[in-house]
This record gives sequence, structure tokens and C-alpha cells, in this order.
Amino acid sequence: MSESFDLKDREFRFLAKFLNEKTGIVLGDNKRPMMNSRLSRRLRALKLQNYKQYCDFIVTPEGETEMPHMVNAITTNLTKFFREKHHFEYLKNTQIPKILASQRGGSRLRIWSAGCSSGEEPYSIAMTLRETLKNIDGTDTKILATDLDTNMVSHASQGLYKIGRTVEEGLTKRQLKEYTDAKVINGNDHIQMKNNVRKLITFKQLNLLHPFPMKGPFDVVFCRNVVIYFDKDTQRTLFKKMAQLMPLGSILCIGHSENLSGVSDDFKLIGQTIYERV
Ligand SMILES: C[S@@+](CC[C@H](N)C(=O)[O-])C[C@H]1O[C@@H](n2cnc3c(N)ncnc32)[C@H](O)[C@@H]1O
Repeated sequence: MSESFDLKDREFRFLAKFLNEKTGIVLGDNKRPMMNSRLSRRLRALKLQNYKQYCDFIVTPEGETEMPHMVNAITTNLTKFFREKHHFEYLKNTQIPKILASQRGGSRLRIWSAGCSSGEEPYSIAMTLRETLKNIDGTDTKILATDLDTNMVSHASQGLYKIGRTVEEGLTKRQLKEYTDAKVINGNDHIQMKNNVRKLITFKQLNLLHPFPMKGPFDVVFCRNVVIYFDKDTQRTLFKKMAQLMPLGSILCIGHSENLSGVSDDFKLIGQTIYERV
């Protein structure tokens, strides 16, 4: 069994403040257990005995290399329904009508959620598509959702979420009714995504740093909040590979703190963190 550590309140406040000053990430007091469970493996990796040693280490010059690991451990799988709403609005109001018009009666649509975490992103895409394409079941529409982490892929494909702030803030009452079923599991209220959205999505494990097994072409790619801690060369290689699966005019949505300047000439910025394949 993994060794557990005791994260004292003052250590939590010190680390939360440090993280906030360096990255802008805000962690409220209720995030102490989350921080402890995620940073414990960093203490083990660094062979430290307790959080006091970790707090002392991160402020030393050698400790600077710890920053990306710390941020990654804390933010790794954070996601929510309709995160960065403007991407879904763009999809609905601009990109899907544009693709359909260009197909002149055709109805093939392929979307990839790369780094889908626990699935809220591909389900948000699926709901957006259902709301945009009234005859979606008569079209050839597919979403591919991939993640490095097999636990995330399995969680995502179950489509099961505990009711709490993310569900309540992310989904409207109407969306809950149309796209989810209520479930009680171990005495806790959950929702499970309905088949009308699940059937649009294929979930697969995929490391973005490895060769891609699929051929595309993809009309839309979401690769959001994934590459932020990749170095520039790794980002260049990744977006080159992605561009090869994307026809001219297709779009790529990236995370709010990411950008492609100096990384790729294959994409042109056309909106807030929205790029067109050129
Ligand atoms: C912060 S989440 C982002 C989830 C979602 N895209 C969003 O913006 O809400 C980042 C996800 O990227 C995945 N990831 C990190 N490195 C990856 C890699 N090399 N290949 C594939 N997925 C990766 C992580 O497992 C994690 O689930």
C-alpha cells in the first residue's frame, strides 16, 4: 500500500499560495484532501519524508524544476462540462453550418477530443451536436475521445458523474433531462449520460506523443489544457502530426492559457484560442 502523508493546514496554505502566485491556480480550503492525494506521489518520487521538506525544497533553486510536476499533479485531470463555453458556441453557430454548407447535402462530421480526461468535454461536444443537427441520427457523425490515462478513459466511457457543483453549474435542467439519467450509487446521487450522446462517442487510450493509429480527416479537434506543460519541441511535433489529419478549413481549439505562436505555421488564429488549418 502507498505511504500516506499528513498535509498540515499551514503547509496546505503555503503550497496553495505558492501555486497561486506562480500560476494563478486558485485552490480553496476544501481542496486540501485533493492536494494531499495528488502531491503524495511527488513526495515519494523525491524520496521526501514529509510536506515540510517539500515546502522547503520548492523554494530552493533546485526546487524550480519541481514546479511543472507540481502543477501537473494538481491540474492533471481537471475538466468540466462546457468548459470554455465559447468553443461550443463557435462549433454550433459557425463551424458546423460551414462544414455542412461545404458538403452540399453530405453529412459526414468527425470531431476529436484529444486529452478528454473524464469525458465532460466529449459529452459537451455531443450535446452541442445534438442541439445543432436536428437530424443527427440520419448523419454520419462521430466523436473520437482519447486520453493517455486508462482510468480516465474508463471513467469517461461509463459517463457516470457524481452530482455536485460541476454537474449543477455545467448542465442546465433541460440538458440534465434530455441527456442524463439519475442514478443512486452507494447512497450518492449520480447522473449517467444517456445513449443519445454516448453512442456518438468512441473512447480510446492514446498517448499524443506516440504515432497516431487513426487516419482522420477531422473537421474539428479539441486539444485543450493538455500541452501546457509539454516543451516547445514536443508541441511542434504534436501539432505537425495533428495538422496532417486535418483538412484546410478545419479548426483546432486549444486551452485558455495555450497558444501556437512559434509552435506551428499550419494553423491561423481566427478567434479566442480557435485556430483554422491553413
Ligand atoms: C487538464 S485535462 C484536460 C481535459 C479537457 N481537455 C479540458 O480541457 O477540460 C488534461 C488531460 O490530458 C491528458 N494528457 C496529458 N498528457 C497526455 C498525453 N501525452 N497524451 C494524451 N493525453 C494526455 C491527461 O491525462 C488529462 O486527462
